[in-house]
Amino acid sequence: MSSFDQRNERRHTNSVKWDSIATTYHKDDLLPLWVADMDFTAPPSVKQALLSYVEQGIYGYTLFGDDLYAAIINWQKKRHNYDIKKEDILFSPGVVPSIAVSIEAFTSKGDSVMIHDPVYPPFAQMVEENKRKLVRSPLKVVNGHFEMDFTTMEAQMIKEDVKLFILCNPHNPGGRVWSKTELKQLGDLCKKHHCLVVSDEIHQDLIFAPYQHETFHNIDPSFADFSIVLTAATKTFNLAGIKNSMIFVKNPELKAAFTAVQAKSEQDTINTFGLIGTKAAYEGGEIWLTELLDYLQKNSAFTIEFLQKNLPQVKIMPPEGTYLFWLDFSAYNLTDTALNKKMIDEAGVVLNGGFTFGPNGKQHMRLNIACPKSTLQQGLEQIARAFK
Ligand SMILES: Cc1ncc(COP(=O)(O)O)c(C=O)c1O
Repeated sequence: MSSFDQRNERRHTNSVKWDSIATTYHKDDLLPLWVADMDFTAPPSVKQALLSYVEQGIYGYTLFGDDLYAAIINWQKKRHNYDIKKEDILFSPGVVPSIAVSIEAFTSKGDSVMIHDPVYPPFAQMVEENKRKLVRSPLKVVNGHFEMDFTTMEAQMIKEDVKLFILCNPHNPGGRVWSKTELKQLGDLCKKHHCLVVSDEIHQDLIFAPYQHETFHNIDPSFADFSIVLTAATKTFNLAGIKNSMIFVKNPELKAAFTAVQAKSEQDTINTFGLIGTKAAYEGGEIWLTELLDYLQKNSAFTIEFLQKNLPQVKIMPPEGTYLFWLDFSAYNLTDTALNKKMIDEAGVVLNGGFTFGPNGKQHMRLNIACPKSTLQQGLEQIARAFK
């Protein structure tokens, strides 16, 4: 038995995934297969490092140590063949806060900011809450997976005078690991239209062979001039609660603009637990990650087989990376409200409603498979019974 098979009790721990749904849906036996948070314990190296910090008993202000920078630099080089220097790394409590800072730093009120449709919901939320004009560019489904529609993107960029594009690389919710060719075409398009790029690469380590993650800065040497890369150890190693992420920014002007906005509200100071967790994960979590990816790949294969056999009407988008499945329930012809109600009331399972990812997500749901196989199987069986 793998340690990932262990069903950990997360109820009554103030877990967003497990404890918020009882309040939302007024039921306390729902199975949560929604928010991108895994039901697995983090790598032992992380637990050990946090325990020894807790043990020494003093929790004062903390520097970004050279050992932390080294852990990040080595991880990026080894896992992504990406060279980043200490002076080009900034920190933030999260990738979403960094997206908000980027919007404020690189655009002005009323400017157009483009995102794909569907995409991780906080992209749209950050654009709108910062009073920028949201431009959603629809992804196309081709051969069962998402592809970028460059013709439409270019037309929208020109028409709306788009100043910034927020890229989800790899893509949540579709699990696409964008190829070098696609990213080159995207970067060339943005360069041509003087559109800056924020590349959210938080899912960069969750990739299934033979796919390979491409860091946006690595596609072409000129791309670092007009883009920044955001990433974190928190998604890879299930550390979302300790709040820490990195910004890779090589262009000095972009760096100055970004740090100026962060400095206005001291957003560049990070919880010490986040710094310790990140360093320990990158230094000691690689074997754990290999085992995790193997487990997730098996859960993915199981999900595909189960759904094809038991719910053939549901169209699935097998993920190339991430631990998220994008499921098309349109064959059932239900409204989004009815679809979610059926999931809650009849299946007893919580998934993310696809409509929250953009208009293109209507009649879809996002399933999180990062849980013990027995939990996943229970959830899928409950869904199959409700929809058969
Ligand atoms: C694409 C993407 N970006 C950012 C985040 C969240 O990042 P953070 O918790 O660092 O704000 C998530 C979480 O699911 C995500 O999927």
